[in-house]
Amino acid sequence: MTDLTFRPARYAATSRALHWIVAVLVLTTLPIGVVMLQDGLSRDLQNTLFILHKNGGVFILALVVLRLVWRVWAPAPPLPASVPPLQARIARLAHGALYALLLVMAISGYIRVRAGGFPIEMLDAIGFPPLVPRSDALADTAKWVHGTARYALAALILAHIAAGLNHLRLRDGVFDRIWPPFGRGRV
Ligand code: HEM
Ligand code: HEM
Repeated sequence: MTDLTFRPARYAATSRALHWIVAVLVLTTLPIGVVMLQDGLSRDLQNTLFILHKNGGVFILALVVLRLVWRVWAPAPPLPASVPPLQARIARLAHGALYALLLVMAISGYIRVRAGGFPIEMLDAIGFPPLVPRSDALADTAKWVHGTARYALAALILAHIAAGLNHLRLRDGVFDRIWPPFGRGRV
């Protein structure tokens, strides 16, 4: 008998919500990082963008760690059988690299700011200790890592979005694994 209730396996509701919250935050934090360093901005606008970028970045770091911990309880569901094994392998590697690059970006940003002796307003307000010693050499190295890894992250995000939208076009069930961001499906 045909099972009319069949739906392709989907990420747990919490995983889907975290995916889209982090996606929106990254897709705004990354361009803010580029814009805030441009010449000709008013001091007020530049300050506001720096505050948004630093605090948004720390928020991303917290959510990515939460996502990785949560992933242990709610692992990725199996892909539809229509996805060739090589493609599934590449997708797994790309997702791992996205997690790794998000961590590298957020941690290097954190070290660059703390080693440089600058504030992170959200953390300072709750009395969170800097954890990183004040050091210009360390701040410069972290700045280099932050400014370099962003190219890899941006390239991978573009490829990831293109692949996701291609699955939406193919209607092969892969996009529905991560959509909608809220509601419908398992917890
Ligand atoms: C329009 C934007 C985006 C689309 C259409 C999209 C689409 C998808 C889809 C379809 C999946 C599930 C793949 C599968 O079935 O295995 C997925 C997973 C994932 N996405 Fe996105 N995504 C977008 C933005 C982003 C952004 C900005 C990031 C982070 C920088 C991101 C990070 C991830 C990660 C890490 C996974 C793997 C989840 C896991 O298995 O733990 N995505 N995305
Ligand atoms: C995933 C999270 C993050 C992304 C995607 C990101 C992205 C970027 C990008 C694209 C730039 C411009 C780099 C350049 O033009 O050289 C930048 C600069 C910067 N970011 Fe982030 N960032 C993130 C997290 C953070 C965090 C957590 C902090 C600090 C708490 C931070 C602090 C900074 C600072 C201070 C700069 C200016 C660097 C300089 O001194 O030239 N970022 N970021």
